[in-house]
Amino acid sequence: MLVALFHHAPPNIDGTRLKQFDQSTVTSRKGSQAPTPPQAVKGIGKKVAKPDYSESKIVLAMVGLPARGKSYLSNKLMIYLKWLEYDVKVFNVGQLRRTRAKQKAQQSGIKEDHSASFFSHNNPEATLSRERLAEDSLEMLIKWLKDGGNVGIHDATNSSRERRAKIEARVNKEPGMTLIFLESVCDDPAVIAANVALKVSSGDPDYKDFSPDKARADFLRRIAEYEKVYETITEPHLSYLRITNVGREVTVSRINGYLSSRIAFYLMNLHLKPRSIFFSRHGESQYNVEGKLGGDSLLSPRGMEYSKALPALIKENIGDQPLTVWTSTLRRTIQTGENLQYTKLTWKSLDELDAGVCDGMTYEEIEHAYPDDFANRDEDKFNYRYRGGESYRDVVLRLEPVIMELERQENILIIGHQAILRCLYAYFHYLPQEDLPYIKIPLHTVIKLTPRAYGCEEERYPLPITAVDTHRAKPRAAQPVAQASSARQYFAPEDQAA
Ligand code: SIN
Repeated sequence: MLVALFHHAPPNIDGTRLKQFDQSTVTSRKGSQAPTPPQAVKGIGKKVAKPDYSESKIVLAMVGLPARGKSYLSNKLMIYLKWLEYDVKVFNVGQLRRTRAKQKAQQSGIKEDHSASFFSHNNPEATLSRERLAEDSLEMLIKWLKDGGNVGIHDATNSSRERRAKIEARVNKEPGMTLIFLESVCDDPAVIAANVALKVSSGDPDYKDFSPDKARADFLRRIAEYEKVYETITEPHLSYLRITNVGREVTVSRINGYLSSRIAFYLMNLHLKPRSIFFSRHGESQYNVEGKLGGDSLLSPRGMEYSKALPALIKENIGDQPLTVWTSTLRRTIQTGENLQYTKLTWKSLDELDAGVCDGMTYEEIEHAYPDDFANRDEDKFNYRYRGGESYRDVVLRLEPVIMELERQENILIIGHQAILRCLYAYFHYLPQEDLPYIKIPLHTVIKLTPRAYGCEEERYPLPITAVDTHRAKPRAAQPVAQASSARQYFAPEDQAA
């Protein structure tokens, strides 16, 4: 493994202070020389393209009764895989049904009845129409995969063997596509009741003209119609995952390949227990005060004050509930957590984005010494990798095990760094990549995230201890940074009605 040793070296001829490699590193590099000569390296870094995932083509077909968390699982998985830069799209059959019905109503003035009787297998006309919607949705999904997508999620009940056999026959015609069924089973009355309540009270488009009582009664009748014909997956030849009561039990059958296994692993770690995730940057550090990047400096006097004030704030929030504190291996995060009386873990993966040759420099020094590079990074900060260091993308990839563990755990406080917390925050709030490097994570502020069925609720607790502002705004920002939301969204745009 390559180890970069940092010396507080005297300034170079051009006045900058660059990270240097010592002789032992140079020697260790010789054994692994690339067959072609490396490109000339100059400047502070360059943009690095996204990995090529074009070979990954998965049809993930959901299976399950209504109110069993299919859309929850679809959306969680989509957010996780998109955060890792796979191209993922959810094809929600209910949404397609509504869009088509709306178009029909506009064209012919006839309003289709989508109350519970529409979902009865004793209604042949509606059954045919529902079959067609599921097939059309699958066709759109396959076309989208052929056009470059990686994982298409067919968000539908797919509740009979016959329907699953049709999906299988269709996907088998497409070379290179993998089919996985994901069945969500839930027999916990509290979870079902919560899902029903969410459906009827969250402004769901199916029930926008219904009173809450009428909506609830109709939705329960719809579920009963599906129950009459529901067949759990027993087909031994299918690749499938069955999740019972999100997190209680997972069956994995015939799952092969890197991405499929990763999907399975992620889903195995999810749970629905109420919990909070707290983010805090370390207290203000000596490097923060000097405006320097990186390093491993200790806290400033104001940072020390923050470290002393933090336990009371956390206690006030969490009461006597258990909490685990995660820090990076850098001294400023460990020092910030030193007064907290909880189990602590240090993660190398939580270390700040490595600024490579710019470690220890100020932004002004970088701009002065490398004006072109500096502008380049500002143009595409997510993709820009510092020479000898990392890009935001590199950080996202190294944080993947942290996300996996965060999904598995309950109450966690992460005492981290600006870039690291931006990446984690973007995952929990499903924020776009281009906005990620500009998310505001101020010093001396605790951010509390409470995961909900769709998104997270957020509270921010700034402590009245002054600190420098290390945020650099997006230059020439066209739009504001996306706002976080925990409202249910259907990730199935109108274009799916085509
Ligand atoms: C729906 O139309 O809401 C769902 C259709 C289905 O998958 O059964």
